[in-house]
Amino acid sequence: MSFDLVLFGGTGDLAWRKLMPALFQAFRHGSLPQGGRIIGVARDDLTDDAYRALIRARFDEVELAKRPSAEEFSRFAALLHFVRMDLSKPADYARLASVLRERNADTVVMYLATAPSLFTMACEQLAAAGLNTPNTRLVLEKPLGHDLASNRAINETVRSVLAEKQIFRIDHYLGKPSVQNLFALRFGNSLFEPLWRRETIANIQITIAEDLGVEKRGAFYDQTGALRDMVQNHALQLLCAIGMEPPINAHADAIRDEKLKVLRSLKPWTPETLTQHVIRGQYTAGTSGGEHVRGYREEPGVDPQSNTETFVALRTEIANWRWAGVPFYIRTGKRLAGRDARIVVNFRPAPHAIFRLPMGAGNRLVINLQPKDGLELHLFAQGQENRAGAKSAVQSLAPVQLDLDFDKRFGSERVGAYERLLLDVIDGRLNLFVRSDEQEEAWRWVEPVLDHWRSDSSGPRPYAAGTWGPSAASAMIARDSHCWSEEC
Ligand code: BG6
Repeated sequence: MSFDLVLFGGTGDLAWRKLMPALFQAFRHGSLPQGGRIIGVARDDLTDDAYRALIRARFDEVELAKRPSAEEFSRFAALLHFVRMDLSKPADYARLASVLRERNADTVVMYLATAPSLFTMACEQLAAAGLNTPNTRLVLEKPLGHDLASNRAINETVRSVLAEKQIFRIDHYLGKPSVQNLFALRFGNSLFEPLWRRETIANIQITIAEDLGVEKRGAFYDQTGALRDMVQNHALQLLCAIGMEPPINAHADAIRDEKLKVLRSLKPWTPETLTQHVIRGQYTAGTSGGEHVRGYREEPGVDPQSNTETFVALRTEIANWRWAGVPFYIRTGKRLAGRDARIVVNFRPAPHAIFRLPMGAGNRLVINLQPKDGLELHLFAQGQENRAGAKSAVQSLAPVQLDLDFDKRFGSERVGAYERLLLDVIDGRLNLFVRSDEQEEAWRWVEPVLDHWRSDSSGPRPYAAGTWGPSAASAMIARDSHCWSEEC
């Protein structure tokens, strides 16, 4: 099967850091179908060779399991081409069309790794140039809009030129091996299903912590904030994966229908929950990785008076029979104590205590997403008391842990998120992509929070870089008599 992959934003940050390395890895693993072209598109004035040389130079700066040899890179470089385009000029689309006609590939992927403000125009122009054929697949990077109305506007334009099955909305968290293992854990094993409900589970915590700050994206981030950047998409997708009903099969729409139901079941916000159940924070100067780091308002591109949140912690519920009353906590932020993404499922304590256990202790399943990828099952056992020489058995139990490390089990050079997703687009598999109705529902749910913040002059709470965020996040969860997993 031949393919052309057209990468709009071909000299942008995402192309350098994620997409080109992922395409290279797919090439190295032999998974890119033969006979493909990767066509970078940008306004720069570059020849194919100059583009190849730029990519080669950037490969020295990114994470690759192994540096390519000159010979290996030159085989990959043969796939790379460059077309100079100004996305506002119809003549440039006509030029792209003629480049694509040279090959008439079976599949043409248009990857919009550009500023979202260009999506609508690019789609209209692609259609005007006749580039929306049945062979076309369109990939849209997040953020898709900045609220429900702008998200809808983009979706409407895109759907007016292409069928939904041709549209691949990326949430790269869905491509992570650890997130796919979450689906495997729930729907490939029967062990946990009977326990996966309100009667046995006390609360569920989703944490996506980053130790980095906003890096070079200050100007973008300042207009975005953690709620739009991480919660509306990545965190809610994780919540769906953990909370959804078993789909009837593994096809894209069966999975997406169930995720949509979760989003629709999220408890609506009330004035009270908006003030009590959502905490926003912003990092100030502190220490990260042993080094002093500046505060968010001092970051390049950021307004020195900015009220943009770099941290969010919130509590919600999925209002259905399985989950009614079970708190789901979401927490994400930049410049936190470490890079650590995990989902913690806290089971209720034993209903009747015949052993001595730490107060309120229950079993816990930890789904580690990154940097570790694995599972931990926290149990209690009678360890100390059974040692030789121990006096009469005091009936107290000690915490022990079953630990499954997927990197050790399967090797750490597994298919990365972007590699998986790019291959899925080329193959036309939609399972790991987000449907427009899911996206709209997620926007509908976060919008009251954005509105509330706009009218709340108190602004985000400060937290020192290198900590776990503002103490109000711990106070919020403590009101339910629970605590974040690193605290208890
Ligand atoms: C992106 C956000 O979607 O995800 C970034 O825009 C964030 O701000 C990134 O850093 C986190 O992704 P990962 O894969 O490093 O956890």
